[in-house]
Amino acid sequence: MKKTFLFLTLSLLMGTLVVFIITTIEADTTETQTNSSENPKTPFAEGCNKCHGDEAAYKEWTQAGHSHALVNLLEGPYEVKTSCLSCHSSGYKMFAERGIPGHPYNEKTAVNAVACSSCHSHASKEEHLLVIPAKKLCITCHKMDCGCAGAGIVHQSQSEMFLGREGAGVKRMPSPHVRAMKKRCVHCHMAKVEQKEDTQENVTQETIAKHGGHTFKADFSTCGNAGCHDSADNDMSKRLPVYRAEIEKKMKTVKAMLDSAADKTTQAYKDAKLNYDMVKGDSGYGLHNIPYARALLEHSLSLKSEIDATEGQ
Ligand code: HEC
Ligand code: HEC
Ligand code: HEC
Ligand code: HEC
Ligand code: HEC
Repeated sequence: MKKTFLFLTLSLLMGTLVVFIITTIEADTTETQTNSSENPKTPFAEGCNKCHGDEAAYKEWTQAGHSHALVNLLEGPYEVKTSCLSCHSSGYKMFAERGIPGHPYNEKTAVNAVACSSCHSHASKEEHLLVIPAKKLCITCHKMDCGCAGAGIVHQSQSEMFLGREGAGVKRMPSPHVRAMKKRCVHCHMAKVEQKEDTQENVTQETIAKHGGHTFKADFSTCGNAGCHDSADNDMSKRLPVYRAEIEKKMKTVKAMLDSAADKTTQAYKDAKLNYDMVKGDSGYGLHNIPYARALLEHSLSLKSEIDATEGQ
């Protein structure tokens, strides 16, 4: 009972805080429209750093890829549409989907990269105030099909590979890690294992990580931690190069087959190429799901006679 009361009071306080912050941000925006993430008065700057700026999460984030997502998009070689911002900038949901009058949201006005509010909101009831549960968070953006067909860019395939789906002619085949890891991508990409000399105890929320945490960088040292791949016959630093060599060899064969195909418009060719691109799009050799990578390439190879049959016609 007491707990419920405390929770309600806290929620109310938080709610007020959020309303307060939003009103402050909106009041500020009438004064200036200059776009700069340093300028807290812009419509889209988040201001989370005002209170969270000294925390490890913030410092890690500033050093890593997500904080460059907007610059890389705008300065990249591709045609940029406003819809690209749905994954490359955190103001999109608030300003483009909800549409706050007087604040047009597009490539010219956006200032936030994949910033804190892409993933967190003080109004959320999820653990760590996540906007959606950790399990589903990363795959909302990290997918091959970014809805940007025609822009000439193929996004990476880590999510499809990890979940073992979308390939041609192969049944669903989730990585064994999907079942073992409740938080999925977060499990490896946010694991903090910086200082593991003797115990895990000296790794605290305050430790600023070089990988893991809010750098979102996975490191192979994670594999051997937490009692997973730590025995001699299960050592990933030995097993992975073997897998990699096998997959890369298969990829070469498939690539040669695709290159020599006379007719590149057949379904067989398209299927074989899709599978090849998926494997290649995941760290170059299908790292997130080796059994699936193998199955995809084997399916491509099984189409060889069909692809060759069109030769010289
Ligand atoms: C709002 C969309 C969005 C979400 C959610 C998201 N990402 Fe990203 N992520 C991006 C974009 C865009 C980039 C490309 C950044 C760039 O330009 O280098 C990226 C880059 C990355 C990179 C490469 C970083 C680097 O330093 O080059 C990793 C690893 C990554 N994300 C992991 C994750 C993980 C793990 C999650 C879930 C906790 C996640 N992402 C959630 C959009 C997102
Ligand atoms: C791409 C998604 C993403 C972005 C961007 C992001 N976070 Fe997080 N954050 C997470 C996830 C997922 C967790 C929970 C990790 C877990 O369960 O182990 C988390 C946890 C936290 C926590 C609690 C525990 C911890 O790791 O410190 C804080 C505080 C936090 N985030 C603050 C921030 C701040 C501040 C920013 C902006 C600089 C930010 N986050 C940006 C996904 C994100
Ligand atoms: C006025 C100060 C203030 C601002 C601005 C603010 N926060 Fe917070 N935030 C807090 C306080 C206080 C807490 C609760 C104490 C704690 O856990 O650090 C908190 C908690 C959090 C947590 C939970 C951390 C955990 O351990 O689970 C996350 C995530 C978070 N805030 C994200 C954000 C994001 C994203 C923004 C910007 C959109 C933001 N905050 C803006 C004060 C603020
Ligand atoms: C569904 C989410 C999503 C959409 C929509 C999206 N992207 Fe991305 N983009 C990502 C993610 C995640 C990454 C990082 C990993 C990858 O390459 O898949 C990324 C990476 C990139 C990169 C490489 C960044 C670097 O490291 O240099 C470029 C360039 C890019 N996107 C351009 C675009 C363009 C142009 C559009 C719109 C036509 C677009 N993106 C739409 C999610 C998205
Ligand atoms: C079993 C652990 C594990 C899981 C689970 C996992 N990853 Fe990874 N991921 C890795 C490792 C290891 C690398 C390679 C890092 C390197 O090359 O140094 C990597 C690489 C990546 C990269 C390329 C990073 C870069 O710098 O270019 C992206 C993007 C990525 N993963 C996204 C994801 C997404 C999205 C998910 C969930 C669908 C996911 N990962 C699940 C371990 C994992």
